[in-house]
Amino acid sequence: MSDSLARIREVDSSGQLDDVLALPEHLRDALWRVESAGLEPAEATGLIVCGMGGSASGGLLARAALGDSLGLPMLIFRDYELPPWTAPDRAILCSSYSGDTEETLACFEAAEAIGAIRYAMTTGGALAAAARQANVPVVGLPAGLQPRHSIGYGFTVACEVAALVGAAPGLRTEIDTAAAHLEQGAETLAARAAEIADRLAGFTPVIYGCDLTVPVAYRWKTQINENAKQHAFQNQLPELDHNEIVGWTRDGDGAGFAAVFLTDSDQHPRQRERAELTATLIEPAASAVIRVETEGGTRVERMLWAVMLGDLVSLHLAARNGVDPGPVDAIERLKGELERS
Ligand code: PA5
Repeated sequence: MSDSLARIREVDSSGQLDDVLALPEHLRDALWRVESAGLEPAEATGLIVCGMGGSASGGLLARAALGDSLGLPMLIFRDYELPPWTAPDRAILCSSYSGDTEETLACFEAAEAIGAIRYAMTTGGALAAAARQANVPVVGLPAGLQPRHSIGYGFTVACEVAALVGAAPGLRTEIDTAAAHLEQGAETLAARAAEIADRLAGFTPVIYGCDLTVPVAYRWKTQINENAKQHAFQNQLPELDHNEIVGWTRDGDGAGFAAVFLTDSDQHPRQRERAELTATLIEPAASAVIRVETEGGTRVERMLWAVMLGDLVSLHLAARNGVDPGPVDAIERLKGELERS
């Protein structure tokens, strides 16, 4: 692959680039793992996905990909407690790559207390142990990844559980086709990501999404935080047109920031107009304004295409920052302090 990927490999001693490029394989493997976990369908009035950070992102993406086809509520919960109105007929999917994240473990217990239908996905840890003890079905994830780079698993398992509990139609075919689409497009994506990273380098990225691309914008932000070890921010249209846009109007104030607009062919026509108008309006204030339109056929294809592009942008930025994208010492340090307290 391209020379620019060679620059990533120079800093990437923990092999994050390979894990990002393996997204198509992860999607297919996840379909297989769900099947072999033998999860039973259940009648539920909705699905709540509980998890933190990289282990919650898959649920956020799944909910967006399912979009209008969701027939029941699907929520992503990132905290120590379930919403107070959670009824026993809600299905709860607890997602923790390590299996030891305290917020997710607390939700697993809370779900037991109300007698809700539970599922788990993890590589092991306390979550796997608790689930096994309570006969809760577990989708086992492969070890050795950074949690954020298990996104293909988190996304697929959340989609599959949503289908199992009757919240949405199954997306197996779309996921399989999207995997092929990503494989075919990998080289172009890598080159495009390098161009975008060149324009973002030296500035604080502000990523804007709408509809399908809202969780993708969040993914770009968190990937830039964790892989490139730098600040990045995210917001969504149309809301940002009612507040954040004003922040771009003071002379010179936006000079340290570069905006990325993630648009999608399926978005509301007024959203599209807003994205273009907003981009044009802030252009004089921002250091760069980058427009990215998702590519692909289905919502799943387009969304995962934009996820992989953002993941590659974050790795290119890591290379430009001269940092290994793998380790996230600050997160580990904080978790360690909390464990000792
Ligand atoms: O990317 C990361 O490492 C974090 O965002 C983790 O996903 C988060 O801290 C939760 O840990 P886990 O995924 O093991 O539940």
